[in-house]
Amino acid sequence: MHVDILTIFPGMFYGAISESILGRAQEQGLLEISIHDIRNFSQDKHNSVDDYPFGGGPGMVMQAEPIWAAVQSVTSAPYGSRPPRVILTTPAGKQFTQEMAKEFASEEHLVIVCGHYEGIDERVSDVFTDEVSIGDFVLTGGELASMVIVDATARLIPGVLGDSESAKGDSFYDGILDYPHYTRPRQWRGMDVPEVLVSGDHEKIRVWRRTEALKRTLMRRPDLLETAALTDEDRQILRSLLNQ
Ligand code: ADE
Repeated sequence: MHVDILTIFPGMFYGAISESILGRAQEQGLLEISIHDIRNFSQDKHNSVDDYPFGGGPGMVMQAEPIWAAVQSVTSAPYGSRPPRVILTTPAGKQFTQEMAKEFASEEHLVIVCGHYEGIDERVSDVFTDEVSIGDFVLTGGELASMVIVDATARLIPGVLGDSESAKGDSFYDGILDYPHYTRPRQWRGMDVPEVLVSGDHEKIRVWRRTEALKRTLMRRPDLLETAALTDEDRQILRSLLNQ
């Protein structure tokens, strides 16, 4: 997958994209990330990319032309056979979810424009295929949001996670939260690892983990249970949890 990130703060990205799993994915040739400075597409000698809002009011607005020209520069030679997804990060966008990450992970080319200031000139909005928010809060800019999107998406590209890091057990993978994990030592500060996990009984462990995952989801995110793909066994576990 090729990802082009268009930003006015390129320096924010270098550590974030070159470390850990994203760094390894690029070394393995599974992922290519290019960072582009929108200021290089400014129309004036001060390299400015924003201006006052028509109609007055606080803040500045990102101008249409630098964004349009920056997007054109990275989409004129597309990677792969399909046209790229062109994503704007904005708190006014559609909520980013694991489902959206899976959808993006199946693309060959993503272009992500990091929004700033009070927003962008609405007339350039037609260049975007998606406007995405990472949550109901406001960041100082879209850079961190685009890193979140790239990170959550890249780890779902086949081969990016090793076997031991599989995405299969993730929270949200099948619509509910993950179960609790334990590692050595078996006793820590007077607290024991649950007996079942050292029993060697794989079926008992599976049922315990599923029960704990459903219990957590019920306590912390009951909204997820309305859309999760629940099995008959899950429903039975939930009934017994609710009757406790
Ligand atoms: N820019 C500022 N806040 C944001 C958010 N919550 N999601 C995406 N982009 C943003």
